[in-house]
Amino acid sequence: MTDPTSLGIGQVGLGSITGAHREGYRLYGQPVVAGFDPNPEARARFAAEEPAAAVYDTLDGLLADPRVGVVDVATPHHRDTRLPVVEQIAAAGTPMLIQKPLAYSYTDALEMVSAVERSGVPAMVNQNMCFVPGSLRLIDALMKDRVVGEPSFAEVTVRYVFDLPDHPWFGKDDRWWTGALTVHHFGLLQLLFGPPETVYAVTGRDESQPGVTIDGYGHLLLRYPNGMNVAIISTGTYYGTDRVPHGNEKIWVQGPDGLVDWRPEEGLTRSRRTDSGFDVSRVEWDRDRRWFPDAFGLTMAHFRQALAAGETPLCAIHDNLYVSALIEAAYLSSVENRVVPLAEIMGDRWNPTYGTGWSHGFTKWAPPAVVGVQA
Ligand SMILES: NC(=O)c1ccc[n+]([C@@H]2O[C@H](COP(=O)([O-])OP(=O)(O)OC[C@H]3O[C@@H](n4cnc5c(N)ncnc54)[C@H](O)[C@@H]3O)[C@@H](O)[C@H]2O)c1
Repeated sequence: MTDPTSLGIGQVGLGSITGAHREGYRLYGQPVVAGFDPNPEARARFAAEEPAAAVYDTLDGLLADPRVGVVDVATPHHRDTRLPVVEQIAAAGTPMLIQKPLAYSYTDALEMVSAVERSGVPAMVNQNMCFVPGSLRLIDALMKDRVVGEPSFAEVTVRYVFDLPDHPWFGKDDRWWTGALTVHHFGLLQLLFGPPETVYAVTGRDESQPGVTIDGYGHLLLRYPNGMNVAIISTGTYYGTDRVPHGNEKIWVQGPDGLVDWRPEEGLTRSRRTDSGFDVSRVEWDRDRRWFPDAFGLTMAHFRQALAAGETPLCAIHDNLYVSALIEAAYLSSVENRVVPLAEIMGDRWNPTYGTGWSHGFTKWAPPAVVGVQA
C-alpha cells in the first residue's frame, strides 16, 4: 500500500490540454508538484499557474524530483514525442498516466506497452470519457445495476463540425478522426463491452473542410465475441442543423432487460418492456459536473487511488492495446473495404475471452467529492 500523499503529479508536456488537466486536478484535490516542457513559453505559462510547483527544462530533472510519484504525459501522440518519453519514464520506474490516444498506430502502441512491461511500472491511458461524471452514472447503470441485462446492441452518434484550420497538426496527420476523436468512444466501449472481434469501417473527408486534410469522419460496425453488435456514426464534417456534438454525444444500449438512452450532459433514461407497454424512468446528476474539467480530475483521482491500493487501474495500458488494435483495424478496413478481425492486428496478443475492460481494473475506487472552486 503506497502512501497517496507521496504521489505528487509531474506534468510532462505543458501544452493546451494540460490547462484542463490542472483545472480538474484543483477541483478534485490532485496535487501538481512539477512540470517539464522543452518549450520555454509552455514552462512560463505553467509556472504562472502553479507557483508552488517546480519547473524543469529536462525530463531527467523532473523524474529525479522525489515529490513526483506519478507522471502525467501529455506530449503529442506522435511517435517521436511519445515513445522516447514513455520509455524514459518507464526506465525511471515512475507510474504514468498517458493522454489518449496512446498512439495512432498499433505498432507504436505495442512499443510503449513493451517498454512498460520491461520496467513493470503501472501505466494508465487517459481515456477521460470513462470518468466524465455522467459516464460514471452510465457505468453504474450498466455494470453495477445491470439495468439492461447482458447488452446485445449499442449505438453511438457524434455529428457536428470540428475544424481547426489554424492548428498546426490537429486534422493534418496521417490519421485523424477515428484515431484522435472516436478513440474517446472506443475507450468507453472497451470498458463497458470489451474488445470487438471484427470491425467494418468507412472513413473519409469532406473536401470543402479547410482544417481537416485527412479523415474527417469514420463510421463503424463492430461485432463482439458474445454476439453483441455496436454501430458508430461519428463525424466532424457535419454542418447541418441536427448536430450532436462531442461532449454531449448520444449513446443507447439495449439488452433483454431494458434500454438505456444516455448523453453525458443530459441524464440517463431507462426504458423497460412491461405487460402493459413501456416503463420509463430517469437518472439525473448535477449538470455543473461536466467533461471539462471534471473528467480530468476524476481520471487522475482513479489512477492515484489504484496506485495507492496496489491495484490495476481501469484503462490500463495493456487494456488499451485493444483500443489501439481497433483504431488500426478500422483504418485497414476502410482502405481495403473489408471486415477486419482484431486478431489479424494483435496476433498472439488477441484474447477472444478477454471480457470487459471493467473486469480487468480497479472497480472499487471511490470518486472523490469536489474540493476546489471551479474557474
Ligand atoms: N479531451 C482530451 O482528452 C484531449 C483534448 C485535446 C488533446 N488531447 C491530447 O493531448 C495531447 C497533447 O495535446 P495538446 O493539444 O496539449 O498539444 P499541444 O501541441 O498544445 O502541446 C503539446 C506540448 O508538448 C510539448 N512537447 C513536445 N515534445 C515534448 C517532449 N519530448 N517532452 C515534453 N514535452 C514535449 C510541446 O512543447 C507542447 O508544449 C495529444 O495527444 C492530444 O491528442 C486530449
